[in-house]
This record gives sequence, structure tokens and C-alpha cells, in this order.
Amino acid sequence: MASKSTAVTSKILKNALFFSLIISVISYEFEVGEETGWATPTGNEPETYNEWAARNRFRIGDTLYFKYQKDSVLVVNSEDYLNCNTSNPITKFHDGNTIFQFDRSGFFYFISGQSGHCKSGQRLIVRVMHPSEVESPESAPSPAPAPRSSGDDSWDSDDWGPPGISSTTKLAVASYYMTSFAGILFVLYQSF
Ligand SMILES: *[C@@H]1O[C@H](CO)[C@@H](O)[C@H](O)[C@H]1NC(C)=O
Repeated sequence: MASKSTAVTSKILKNALFFSLIISVISYEFEVGEETGWATPTGNEPETYNEWAARNRFRIGDTLYFKYQKDSVLVVNSEDYLNCNTSNPITKFHDGNTIFQFDRSGFFYFISGQSGHCKSGQRLIVRVMHPSEVESPESAPSPAPAPRSSGDDSWDSDDWGPPGISSTTKLAVASYYMTSFAGILFVLYQSF
């Protein structure tokens, strides 16, 4: 009897471990600005931060990695985002290597805290998908375009249009998931 219930407990633990591993593996870290990092745009970038964000799919648990020097990352509300208002951030980071994890779905707004940087385009809107949208990363459509803002600021008013260049990235991300997933399955089968 005792050994039977131990076996059951161990099976439950095994499943719990399994699912927590899957969840932790499926989260993805996005590097903001890639090689350039989080910096004031010079105008030579291939795309704005928001164009980059619009062609990616963000989920709860995913992280953004901001790499920067002599700068900061402010998480703000939509109004402060639109006005580049740095006086009242929800959260502020200035360590140069910030990892921000999405703990809910919906919109997240990031601006630089340095004077003038946000107005020059150092700002980012990320829409984190609702769990109901997260089904198949390969076949699901790209994020639905958010209502276009009527603002006249060219850095963000048109950035939520239909993403154009998304398929390569999606493929890379999907193959990343699949590789990690296979790796974890292998490890689990080895250890139990
Ligand atoms: C910035 O936000 C603060 C507090 O939310 C507000 O008092 C201030 O007027 C705003 N400044 C600008 C320039 O909008």
C-alpha cells in the first residue's frame, strides 16, 4: 500500500515537473534592438522598435532584454507613452541590462527615461497575446493590428499595420520551441 501511494505521488510530482519545465522552456527572450540594443535611433535602422514588435508574437512569460548604456527603461502607461512623459513611470530600470518579463496579456509601453530620447523614437509598444490566442505558433495569424492611433507622431502612429516580414522570424521561433521541447523530452526520459 505504502509503496503504491508513493508511486502515485511520484507520478504526480513527475507530471508537475514536466509541465513546469514545458512552461519555462516555451518562454522566449526577445532582444530589443538586436545588435544596437536600446538606444536613440539614428535613422539608419532597418525598422523602428514598434515595427520590430509588430512582427513578433509575445506571450505571457516571455521576456524582453534591453541592453543599453547611459540610458534607462521606463514602463509607463499609454498616455505617458504618447506624451513621452518620464515623470511618473510604473517601473524604472537603469542597470544597463534589463530583463523584463510579461506577467499578463495586453499592452506594455516602454520609453527611454533620458531627455529627448523617447521623442526621437526610443520607445516601444508590445502587445502580449491573450492565452486564447496562443495556439499554434506556426499556423496562427500574426498579431491582429491594433487600432491605429490618430497621433501624428510618425514613430508610432503607423507601426501596428499588417506585419510584412514575419515569416522567417516565426519559423526561427517555432524551430526554437521544437528543439527545446525535444531536448526536454529527452532529458525527462533519461531521468525517470
Ligand atoms: C506628466 O505626468 C505628470 C503626472 O502624471 C503630470 O503631472 C504632468 O503634467 C505630465 N507632463 C506633461 C508634460 O504632460
